Amino acid sequence: MGPRTTKLSASLLSADFAELGEAVRAAEQAGCDEVHFDVMDGHFVPNLSIGVPVLKAVRQHTSLPIDIHMMVEEPGRFLDAFMNAGADMYTVHAEACRALNSTLSQIRQAGLRPAVALSPDTSLSAIEASLPYVDRVLVMTVNPGFGGQEFMEGVLPKIRKLRHLLDDLELETELAVDGGISSSTVAHAARAGARAFVVGSALFAHQGGVAVGAQAIRAALAPLGL
Ligand code: DX5
Ligand code: ZN
Repeated sequence: MGPRTTKLSASLLSADFAELGEAVRAAEQAGCDEVHFDVMDGHFVPNLSIGVPVLKAVRQHTSLPIDIHMMVEEPGRFLDAFMNAGADMYTVHAEACRALNSTLSQIRQAGLRPAVALSPDTSLSAIEASLPYVDRVLVMTVNPGFGGQEFMEGVLPKIRKLRHLLDDLELETELAVDGGISSSTVAHAARAGARAFVVGSALFAHQGGVAVGAQAIRAALAPLGL
């Protein structure tokens, strides 16, 4: 069997915040490829979540790469703090950066993997010029700010268009989706061209536990050969 062509990223937002060490261990044991760490500033999105001290604590409990999803205005301000706390990838919203490409270059220079996220209403034109600077594009399939929302099918055409664009440009950039991904929606996103899947409630709120949740996602991808 060759290397897996898809990545599962476990979003801690739906985990028990009093047991985050246990949550990342469970994600790792379930075969997740990455931890997704959602940071909110109550300004870019109408909610608050977790930040640097929590990342520092979580970092002690997993060797998986940790992607920081910054739902924060001008996220470059916090780059050094998250880097020192053990971040691997740093995902910034196109809508939240006045000078997007310079923020992305800063991330690369700091030794982290830069990624750009797009809210559902934002079109691809906002990031086309940034593609050479990023390792990943994170397409939001819910409005950012809350876990447990319903997958927005209306975003599928944008995912397809981005897939074609990346293929035409022969870029290896990862195409990731975030929001409402479950065993019943993941195949839609995959068929449209996504290859990395951020999953929160379908893992951490799964009745059978994280391993069963991850298995259900993998099983939904298997018929597509992924
Ligand atoms: C939403 C966050 C997501 C969220 C995903 O603002 O960016 O990462 O935690 O949770 P689910 O999978 O429940 O939609
Ligand atoms: Zn997220």
